[in-house]
Amino acid sequence: MKILAFESSCDETAVAVVEDGRRVLSDAIASQASLHALYGGVVPEIASRKHVEAIAALTEQALQQAGCTRGEIDAVAATYAPGLIGAVLVGLSFAKSMAFALGVPLIPVHHIRGHIAANYLAFPELEPPFLALAISGGNTLLVDVRGYTDMVILGATRDDAVGECFDKAARVLGLPYPGGKPMDDLAQGSKGGVYQLPQVHVDGAELDMSFSGLKTAVVNLAHHAQQVGEELDRAALARDFAQAVSDALVPRTIQAARQAGRKVIVAAGGVAANSVIRGDLEAACRREGLKLYLPPLRLCGDNGAMIGAQGYYEFLAGHTAGMNLNAYATRDIAE
Ligand code: KG4
Repeated sequence: MKILAFESSCDETAVAVVEDGRRVLSDAIASQASLHALYGGVVPEIASRKHVEAIAALTEQALQQAGCTRGEIDAVAATYAPGLIGAVLVGLSFAKSMAFALGVPLIPVHHIRGHIAANYLAFPELEPPFLALAISGGNTLLVDVRGYTDMVILGATRDDAVGECFDKAARVLGLPYPGGKPMDDLAQGSKGGVYQLPQVHVDGAELDMSFSGLKTAVVNLAHHAQQVGEELDRAALARDFAQAVSDALVPRTIQAARQAGRKVIVAAGGVAANSVIRGDLEAACRREGLKLYLPPLRLCGDNGAMIGAQGYYEFLAGHTAGMNLNAYATRDIAE
């Protein structure tokens, strides 16, 4: 079954053709990141307009690369939530018109379910159940993936998502947007252990997290240094910040797997590219005798193929939608 898949929830327009949820026939992406870098973050109105400009040509590109005619497409999948509402609407509306014109089913896909499904493309043997750590620009979730479309949230951030914190911390360190990768690169130059950053803790909810205090601590450190004319050890701060994030995520991931009785852990989302978090997850899983799947770096960030992968399993579960399907800025992964 060939699915034409659309992703437009943030600043990447992405269109892919995926066969049977596992085989990527094409994966076309137009990133707007360099444009938003001028403003230090994503400008929603610009994102929507750029999706409109890119999506038709990108669809042609994806079909051509897949060596596939429109008539060979069996279904159309699209991210319908969560994300920047204007941005999501562009991809979803385009997908609806494609499904309508081709006379094929329309499959709504939750963006974070897509991030998790990116792993099905890289690891043919991977099947639920497993515990997923989903960490991206807008979400930080510990999810018990009981089946391809059966998910339960075990833990989540109460405020900022980890990716957002990396981006804000990067900004005060003078790094470009999106800041996660530049922060990661900067951190390679230090062993850290220089800056004391607050530990993430939520009273009475051991699997939940709060990252706003950590973000504020980095902002305060940078401002204080500026005010007293002190030189910051930027590499050490980047390293200590990544370690503080990892110290919040990794033990909770292991604890969540234990609680759910899972022996397999899967990482997903843009922040899953972080070298400190990847290294700590590997060490912890080895120690605990758990099997770990880390997505290849190219599948961590937003892409269309992951929507095609999850779309296939949503279709098998009977989850198709009519032309009245709406887009949502927020939506529970479990719904
Ligand atoms: O999954 P993604 O591409 O988009 C969303 O669905 O949100 O994630 C983007 C986030 C950004 O905040 C970016 O700074 C972060 O992932 N990121 C990283 C790294 N690479 C990307 N964060 C930490 N370390 C990295 N190497």
